[in-house]
Amino acid sequence: MKKGIYPGSFDPVTYGHIDVIRRSAALVDELIVGVLSNSGKTPMFTVEEREEMLREVTKGLPNVTVRSFSGLTVDFAREMDANVLIRGLRAIPDFEYELNMAQTNHIIAPEIETVFLMTSLKYSYLSSTTVKEVASYDADISTFVPPYVEEKIRKKFSKKEEKE
Ligand code: PNS
Repeated sequence: MKKGIYPGSFDPVTYGHIDVIRRSAALVDELIVGVLSNSGKTPMFTVEEREEMLREVTKGLPNVTVRSFSGLTVDFAREMDANVLIRGLRAIPDFEYELNMAQTNHIIAPEIETVFLMTSLKYSYLSSTTVKEVASYDADISTFVPPYVEEKIRKKFSKKEEKE
């Protein structure tokens, strides 16, 4: 049985992530989307909110589950008994970081294979950071994220405005 993990920050999940989730779910028997809770970055959404959005947008995929984790991704993979670590690659700027991470992970946990999926051309420009930036100017983000996520982002920004 092939069990995969797809780790990330997902702050928030975009159509680009969903594309990778769908395609990798077709390659493994079980896919666990791992939401990193202790990243150095300050996220817009709490780990619970990010998990909840991911569960909502992946509810039609029966072999996909969503879990949060802290610490090393390979420790999470071992804990989940997963032997495949999935990452999406958008363009050349992603490559150096991803290569470094895959090689480091390979040294720590050689039994776990990193598999890269090239992001579909349609989403090659897309990142959670871009989505938040565009949304901060109240511009349309419906081509970047599902309506459910769009609503959550809008609510975040309106709460922020209320505070200011
Ligand atoms: O969505 P992101 O922010 O590109 O995901 C990055 C992530 C979560 C995969 C990466 O930061 C990660 O694996 N962090 C956990 C710590 C770790 O295992 N680092 C890799 C060894 S250097």
